Amino acid sequence: MSEQTRRTASNRDVETRYEEYLMPIWKSLNVPVERASGCTLEDFDGNEYLDVFSGISVVNVGHGNEAVVDAAKAQLDEFVHGCTYVHPHEPAADLAEKLADITPGDLQKSFFCNSGTEAVEGAIKLARKYTGGKEILALEMAFHGRTLGSLALTGNKTYKRGMAPVINDVTHAPAPYGYRCETCDGDACTAECADRIDRIIDTHTSDDLAAIVVEPVMGEGGIIVPSEAWFRRVREIADDRGALLVVDEVQAGYGRTGEMWAIDHFDVEPDIVTQAKGIANGLPLGAFTASAEVADAFGPGDHLSTFGGNPVACAAALATIDELENGVVDNAREQGAWLSDRLAELEEEFDVVGDTRGLGLMQGVELVDPDETGPLGVAAAPDAALAKHVGERLREDGVVMGVGGFYKNVMRFQPPLVISRDQLERAVEALRDAIEAETA
Ligand SMILES: Cc1ncc(COP(=O)(O)O)c(C=O)c1O
Repeated sequence: MSEQTRRTASNRDVETRYEEYLMPIWKSLNVPVERASGCTLEDFDGNEYLDVFSGISVVNVGHGNEAVVDAAKAQLDEFVHGCTYVHPHEPAADLAEKLADITPGDLQKSFFCNSGTEAVEGAIKLARKYTGGKEILALEMAFHGRTLGSLALTGNKTYKRGMAPVINDVTHAPAPYGYRCETCDGDACTAECADRIDRIIDTHTSDDLAAIVVEPVMGEGGIIVPSEAWFRRVREIADDRGALLVVDEVQAGYGRTGEMWAIDHFDVEPDIVTQAKGIANGLPLGAFTASAEVADAFGPGDHLSTFGGNPVACAAALATIDELENGVVDNAREQGAWLSDRLAELEEEFDVVGDTRGLGLMQGVELVDPDETGPLGVAAAPDAALAKHVGERLREDGVVMGVGGFYKNVMRFQPPLVISRDQLERAVEALRDAIEAETA
C-alpha cells in the first residue's frame, strides 16, 4: 500500500479506536499491522517484525502469498457468494474432491463452515447422528474453540469463567503431557497413560459416547505431543466403546508439523478430521471431513452454514494446498528438524528452560522456575511471568512469538512454513537473548 492510500496515521490511532469501538478482549499480542508479506509484519508506525506466530498458526504459506491472492482475486471477479448448500459451485466441489484425496484413510465427504469452532461443533453433531451416542470425551487442557459446544470440550477454566453452563455431557481425561505426567516420566505419554481414558469412561460417563475428540498436537495447551503408542490406545478405546475418533487438526493441520496432517505422524486413522486456520491461508474457512459412511448419517437440512464454503475462500484454499504440496510442507519438515535441535540446545544452556518439544514448525519452549516444584509434585513449576516478559522483550526486539500453554509459560514457534533458515536463526537468537536478559 502506498503512503497516499494509508488509511490511518499511527499505531496509537488504531489502538484508540479499538479501545473505543471494539470489545475489550484484543490485547494479547498487541502488534498493530498495516501490511504483511512472507514472514514480515509492518505496523502503522513503520516498524517491522519477524512473525513466528502466523496470526495464531494461520498463514502457513506466508503473508500475501501471490498464488493464493491471485486465486482469490480471480474468484472475486467470478462471483462472491451463492451459499454453498443452495447454489452448488465449482470451488467447493474442487476443494471437497481435493480433501478426499489428501485427508487420511478413507475420509471422503466434507462439510464447509467458516471457523475452527464451527468445524468442531459440526463434527460433534455428525458423530451423534452416526453413532446414536450422546456423550463426548475430550482432554484436560484441550482447546477446541469458544462457542458454547466447543467451549464445553475445551479443558481449561480460563476460557469458561463467567460463561457457564456449557453443554454438560462432556467428560475430560488427562492430556498426554509427558513432561508433567503423573503416570509416566517420559518425554511423551505412553499407552498406559491412555488407559486412564478407559477408567474415566467407566467412572464418569454412562458409556454412551458419540466421540473421543483430541488434538494430534495440543497447540493452546502448550505444544503437547503424544506418542504413537498413546494414540493407538486411544483409537482402540474409541473402537471398543463404539465412539468415533475426531481428530482436531484446526491448528496442527495443513503442513504445520512437517506432514500435511499431524495425525500422519502417528499411523492412526481418524473417523472425522476438523480443519480451519491454515486451510485458506487467512481467508475464513473451516471444514470437517468424514468417510462416506459416517458423512451419510447427515440428511438434508441436518446442518448448514450461510457463508460456509464461500467460493473465494475455497479458491484460496485450493491454491494454499497447491503451495503446501509443492515444497512448503517439505520446508516445514526440514526447518522444523533444525529448529528442534536448536531449541534442545537452549534446554541444555538454561535451567529455566524445562522442556522443548514439537513437530515440524510447531515447537514449544516451556519456561519454569527450577527452584520450585510443579503441580502435583511433577517437574519444575511453570513460570508464566518469565514467559510474559520474554514475549515482551522479543516484541521490542522485533520478533512476534506466541506465549501460551495451559500454564501460560510456553513460548510458541509457529511461523509461516515458508520461513528461511536465516529468519529462524534470528528468532532463536532473539529468544536466547531475551531469556538471558530476563534471567540475568
Ligand atoms: C485445535 C483447535 N480447535 C479449534 C479452534 C477454534 O478455532 P477458531 O478460532 O477458528 O474458532 C482452535 C483455535 O485456536 C484450535 O487451536
